[in-house]
Amino acid sequence: MNVDSSQTDLGYVTRMNGYNILAEIIACPACSSNLPIGNMDTRVMCRGCKSTFIKGKYIWNFVPPVIDWSSPMWQTWQQLQDNGMVSYQSDPEHNLAVGTRKDSQDFAKFCHCSGLVLDVGCGPQSWPSYFKRTEETIYVGIDPLVQDVPGEFLKLKGLAEFLPFRARVFDHVLFATSLDHFVDPFAALKAAARVCKSTGEIDIWLGEKGVGAPSPAVSPEWYRQLRKPDLAADLFHIKRLSRDVFINIAVASGLTLVQTEVHAVDKYRTNYFYRLRSSR
Ligand SMILES: C[S@@+](CC[C@H](N)C(=O)[O-])C[C@H]1O[C@@H](n2cnc3c(N)ncnc32)[C@H](O)[C@@H]1O
Ligand SMILES: [Zn+2]
Repeated sequence: MNVDSSQTDLGYVTRMNGYNILAEIIACPACSSNLPIGNMDTRVMCRGCKSTFIKGKYIWNFVPPVIDWSSPMWQTWQQLQDNGMVSYQSDPEHNLAVGTRKDSQDFAKFCHCSGLVLDVGCGPQSWPSYFKRTEETIYVGIDPLVQDVPGEFLKLKGLAEFLPFRARVFDHVLFATSLDHFVDPFAALKAAARVCKSTGEIDIWLGEKGVGAPSPAVSPEWYRQLRKPDLAADLFHIKRLSRDVFINIAVASGLTLVQTEVHAVDKYRTNYFYRLRSSR
């Protein structure tokens, strides 16, 4: 089966069996060699670098073995991920795209997705609310917090900096409020540029909080228990990406900014939507 958005039966095939498509798009996250995965496999070894990846009951884990989890940045990231999980469980409506949030609907409209769509940092929720339920769109999500449970779309456990996909397979690559959670957003954008088709686009949602934004008058108990690691920008983000910083990273990753939409949330907070294309 050829992974091409012009194939009208692809949506149906993927919904019936997400792993049909997995075999067509998967590659080693460590060395980018194609991985030979069969429908019934629960373990695969890369012929290139000999890394091994395993499947739980439902979900493949493509976190590569090359990460030094004891390094200060990955330790910081792990603490932020733990903080994030507390917020997603305690107050999902304010911390994840769920329900009928207007910002989420605005982002869906901006992306106008069709074809094969990768969502990088798709979150632990069962269905991000910026996904549209259309026959023309097939979603694939990757996130380190993906749980080993059956899902409504093909999800993988993995990292943005080490995308386990072949070159030029996706029509859209989305980052919805995820890029500022990564250890290395530059590596993530370079990986996105690699896996996106030359006719495709990379759609990014980044929130910006101005200096002087007041803290809420009363914080819930779960929030007061969180700890900010020294190297992090705040309790949840490694580094907030202002418009200028973001554009510098995008251009250095070989991407061209083709559109920006600015949505003011209030006096202090703004949502930016960026559309990028690969300049290669
Ligand atoms: C604020 S949540 C956004 C989730 C979802 N996109 C949404 O809008 O509801 C940030 C997500 O980024 C994910 N994330 C953090 N570091 C990541 C990495 N290195 N690679 C991929 N995803 C990552 C987190 O696990 C979390 O699910
Ligand atoms: Zn490999």
